Amino acid sequence: MFSKIATRAFSSSSASAYKVAVLGANGGIGQPLSLLMKLNPKVTDLALYDLRGAPGVAADVSHIPTNSTVKGYQPEDIEGALTGCDVVVIPAGVPRKPGMTRDDLFNTNASIVRDLAKNIAEYSPNAAVLIISNPVNSTVPIVAEVFKSKGVYNPKKLFGVTTLDVLRANRFVAEIAGTDPSKEHVTVVGGHSGITIVPLFSQTNYKDLATDVRDKLVHRVQFGGDEVVQAKDGAGSATLSMAQAGARFAGSVLNGLAGEHDVVEPSFVDSPLFKNEGVEFFSSKVTLGPEGVKTIHPLGELSEFEEGLVKTAKETLVGNIKKGQDFVAQNP
Ligand code: NAI
Repeated sequence: MFSKIATRAFSSSSASAYKVAVLGANGGIGQPLSLLMKLNPKVTDLALYDLRGAPGVAADVSHIPTNSTVKGYQPEDIEGALTGCDVVVIPAGVPRKPGMTRDDLFNTNASIVRDLAKNIAEYSPNAAVLIISNPVNSTVPIVAEVFKSKGVYNPKKLFGVTTLDVLRANRFVAEIAGTDPSKEHVTVVGGHSGITIVPLFSQTNYKDLATDVRDKLVHRVQFGGDEVVQAKDGAGSATLSMAQAGARFAGSVLNGLAGEHDVVEPSFVDSPLFKNEGVEFFSSKVTLGPEGVKTIHPLGELSEFEEGLVKTAKETLVGNIKKGQDFVAQNP
């Protein structure tokens, strides 16, 4: 027979007990992401929030027999969803339709992300915040500005999720090389949209690809999202692969919080790498630790071709970042 005391001792002795919230949990990404977070043994409390439908997703996911409680929250109880969170993942917002760029989503998603950030600042100011909502190059600066205005900005705990670009680079290069994609580890730097996405194949075994093969591969990684948008034909953008990417990144953040060593993922963060050139946020390899960002790694050796791609990425990022910052200044 289990006594209450024994049960309590068990749960409080676990070093890896974390509350994770998914904001936008009823969406195309939110639902499978919630499922995957339910499967993560480090998550003991899963809070699913959406404008509509979160209690249904929560009831469904809650029947999976893993060691977490799941609760769905409606807008009137965002405080309950966020209070005590260690990690907040945000896939709330509208996705692309064919012909749209991620920047076309700005007008709708900027205010959604700004308002969620205000709530996070109030109810879970110490959480690690993972932004999936596009355009990531602008939504991450939006969250930073809101946090700064509320006096709770911690650059070590704000992440733009670029992991899907990494998954695509691994998958696409493996298709060409005939290798196991799960064994590929391509670093992708820059930002998360078109020409700001820079996969560094020169740092892999495939540095000697023929120029035309390399160019096509890089283009496919940069614009791989368009393949999904076109195939879904108006029904949205990547959701299942994105959920996998989001769960992997959130899992890595949790591993870092738990003190595991050598947890490294590329992510779009407040970065010193190119600040002197006016690029305040940049994605590069980040070692994750108990405080969030532990180390931001430099890009390493680049080919001349990649130097050119990084230069273009930086030029575009300056404008994308400023657009987010200006939005908050003009619409606080
Ligand atoms: P979706 O439309 O299927 O789901 C969005 C969900 O957000 C809906 O359930 C909606 O009710 C909810 N929502 C809207 N406003 C909200 C608010 N204020 N508070 C809480 N929930 C709110 O869209 P999908 O396909 O899940 O995409 C979500 C976002 O993720 C889009 O902005 C999309 O562009 C982005 N995305 C990012 C990727 C990345 O690599 N970072 C990859 C793919 C998509």
